[in-house]
Amino acid sequence: MTSTLELTFQKLSMPHLETVLEIERQSFKTPWSKFAFIHEMRFERSVFKVAKVGDHVVGYGGFWHVLDEAHISNIAVHPDHRRKGIGRRLLSHLLEEAVARGALKATLEVRRSNIAAQKLYESFGFKIVTVRKYYYSDENEDALIMWNDDIAATLAGADSRNALETPE
Ligand SMILES: CC(C)(COP(=O)(O)OP(=O)(O)OC[C@H]1O[C@@H](n2cnc3c(N)ncnc32)[C@H](O)[C@@H]1OP(=O)(O)O)[C@@H](O)C(=O)NCCC(=O)NCCS
Repeated sequence: MTSTLELTFQKLSMPHLETVLEIERQSFKTPWSKFAFIHEMRFERSVFKVAKVGDHVVGYGGFWHVLDEAHISNIAVHPDHRRKGIGRRLLSHLLEEAVARGALKATLEVRRSNIAAQKLYESFGFKIVTVRKYYYSDENEDALIMWNDDIAATLAGADSRNALETPE
């Protein structure tokens, strides 16, 4: 389902941090620390955004821009706001930002058990290229390494209804 929610995107900043950490803890078995998000704010290769409905942060995601590649570093939507199209619009926004910065390809890693995320990535043309056995040490779970080799082509073919970029 594609959301008709009024969604806006902003660069991650300190006032967002508390809600982002709350969503992170509800979304991952091994959540990122506060320091990890602060690092994303400072790391010059990182593009990290929050998605907001009104004043409320409902999700976030980011990537590292390395040469012609975008490495998706994190993406999550608050449990109460899932299956409303926010993850799709967030990923679309991140890939648009990546293309705007000169990235041609994108990659990410995902747990083998994380079917929701895999479905989302597959719908954006990501394909499993490698499996890293027992990559996630918390549960000895495999990581699937996915790549999209032509993100501009994916975006050109995608439903491009997207959110407004608000001042940062
Ligand atoms: C993965 C995640 C970001 C998706 O966010 P979302 O806002 O719920 O996703 P959307 O509503 O935009 O759904 C987009 C597509 O993803 C897939 N999808 C999302 N949730 C799914 C689920 N529970 N089961 C199966 N497919 C699912 C579907 O293909 C969906 O398209 P559809 O609604 O047309 O069927 C969200 O589930 C999440 O935050 N999970 C926890 C954090 C996480 O696992 N992040 C990824 C780490 S690699």
